[in-house]
Amino acid sequence: MSTPALTTLTSFQQLQAHSATVREVHLRQLFASNPQRFAQMTVDAAGLLLDYSKNRVDATSMALLMDLARERGVEAQREAMFTGEKINLTEHRAVLHTALRAPRGTKLVVDGQDIDADVQDVLQRVKAFTDKVRNGSWLGYSGKPISDVVNIGIGGSDLGPKMACLALRSYANPGLEMHFVSNVDGHDMEATLSKVDPETTLFIVASKTFVTAETMLNANTARAWFLLEAEEKDLAQHFVAVSTNAAAIVEFGIDPANMFPFWDWVGGRYSVWSSIGLAVALAVGFEYFSDFLAGAHAMDQHFRTAPLAQNMPVVLAMVGFWNRQFLDCGSVSIAPYHQDLSRFAAYLQQLDMESNGKRVTKDGQPVGVPTGPVIWGDCGTNAQHAYFQLLHQGTDVTPIDFIAALRATHDLPGHHDALLANCFAQSEAFMTGKTGEEVRADLQAQGLPAEQIEALVPHKTFPGNRPSNTILMDQLTPSTLGALIALYEHKTFVQGVLWNVNSFDQWGVELGKVLARKIQSELTGEAQPALHDSSTNGLISLARAAKAAY
Ligand code: F6P
Repeated sequence: MSTPALTTLTSFQQLQAHSATVREVHLRQLFASNPQRFAQMTVDAAGLLLDYSKNRVDATSMALLMDLARERGVEAQREAMFTGEKINLTEHRAVLHTALRAPRGTKLVVDGQDIDADVQDVLQRVKAFTDKVRNGSWLGYSGKPISDVVNIGIGGSDLGPKMACLALRSYANPGLEMHFVSNVDGHDMEATLSKVDPETTLFIVASKTFVTAETMLNANTARAWFLLEAEEKDLAQHFVAVSTNAAAIVEFGIDPANMFPFWDWVGGRYSVWSSIGLAVALAVGFEYFSDFLAGAHAMDQHFRTAPLAQNMPVVLAMVGFWNRQFLDCGSVSIAPYHQDLSRFAAYLQQLDMESNGKRVTKDGQPVGVPTGPVIWGDCGTNAQHAYFQLLHQGTDVTPIDFIAALRATHDLPGHHDALLANCFAQSEAFMTGKTGEEVRADLQAQGLPAEQIEALVPHKTFPGNRPSNTILMDQLTPSTLGALIALYEHKTFVQGVLWNVNSFDQWGVELGKVLARKIQSELTGEAQPALHDSSTNGLISLARAAKAAY
C-alpha cells in the first residue's frame, strides 16, 4: 500500500490552518506571554540540552507537530530502522549505523549473520592496531615509529573522521599528526606529501566501495610517492584499508591483514562509527573512541524510547520541518560556538543534504512539498563578522542552530565568557530584533538631530522574529560529540520519514561522475571530443589547448 501524500494527513491540515495564526505573532510576544517558555521548551538527553524556545511555535504548534509525527508513522519507522528492516529500498539494504555503537551483546541478525559478533570482532582489530601504532610498536620500514597518518577518502570516508579528529584534538595523542586528503585536485595530495616522511607515515585508504575515482587516484599517487623511497614489501607497514570491498583491496595490493572491513548496511555518511573511524581511534585512542560510540548510543536509546514530545531528535526535526514547510525557510545555518567544531557544518551538509535532498517519495511520486533545506555555516564568532549581517537584516529568514559547550577544554582566561556571551547575545538579537521606536530612542539619547535620526532608523532597525535552536553541552568530549552527531542523524531520519523519501541512497551524485569519466578521456586524448553543448565543448577545447601548450 502506498503512503498517503503528506498534505492529505489530518494533522498536516490542522498544522497548516494553525500556522496562519502563529505566523502573525512575533517571538517577543510569545516570550512575553509565557514566562515559562524556556522551562517548557527545553529537552535534555545524553549530555545535551536543546533549547527550542526561540522558534516561532507555541504549545499548540508543538502538539500538532507531534500528532503529525505520530500520524506519519515515525515510531514504527524508527523501530524498523533499529531492528534491521531493509528501509533503504532502492539499494535493498538495512540501515544499522546504530548497531555499530550498541554495547557488546546487543543481538541482531541481518541476512542470517550475527552482526554483533562481526562488529565486536572489527572493534577488537581496531583496538589492537591503534594500540600498536600509538605506543610506537608498529614500525615503519626503516624501524621508526609512525608519526603521521594520512587518511585518503572522500565524502563520508573523509568528512566524519576529519570533523571528529578536529573536534577531539584536546584528547588526541600529540605525537601523531593526522592529515586528510580527499580532493582529486593534486594540490591537496601535494600539500600533504610535502609535510610527511615515507619512513614514518601511515596511509589509510578509506572507501566504502573502494571504487571512488578520487580516492583511487589519490591512493595510487600516495603509493607511487612511497615507492620512490621504499620497496613493494614495505607497503604492508604503511598502507591499510577500510572498506566493504575486500576483493578490491587485495587487487590494489594491500595486505588483507591490514584491512578493516565494514558492511553494506552502513551508509557512507553514517560510517564514522565503523572502521571508517580508524583515524579517530588512532588520534584519540580506543578508550576515547569507545566513549564516542557510547555517547551516540545514549542518544540512540533516548531516540528509541523517549515520548515524542520530549524526544530531542524528534523535536529538532519537527521544528525544522515547521520552519521549512510553514515559514518557507530554504536553508539552515549551523553555528558552533566552538572552534574545534569548525568542520561540523561541512559534516552536516553531507549528512542532511545527501540524505534528504530528494524530490520523489519512496514510491517514486513527487514529494509535493519542499524537502531538505540547504545546510551551511561556520563557527561563531567568525561567522558574526562575515555573514550574520544578512541573517539579521536580509530578506530571507534563515533558522540557526547555535551549538556551545558550557566549559572550555582550554584554560586561557577570559575567552570562554566572551564566546558564550556572543552566542547567547546572537540568539537573543535574532529573536527580539530592535524596533524603529527603540532605534529612535537610542539616537535621541545620543543627541542626534531629528532629520538624521529619521534617515538612520530604517537602517538600524532589526526585524527579529528569526528562529534559532541552542544546543548546549557541558564540555565537548568524545561522548558529547557522539551524542551530538547521533542527534542530527536521527533528526535527518525523522524528516525523511515525514517527506517519505529514502534518506539512505544518493543517486543524485551519479550523473556527474559518469560525465566526468567521459570528459576525462577527452581531456587526456584517449577519446576524441564528443558532441556536447557549446559551453562544455568550449571549456574542453580550452583545457586541451592549455595542455598542448606545455
Ligand atoms: O558520491 C557520494 C558518495 O557515494 C558518498 O555517499 C560517500 O560517502 C562518498 O561518495 C565516498 O564513497 P566511498 O566511501 O565508497 O569511497
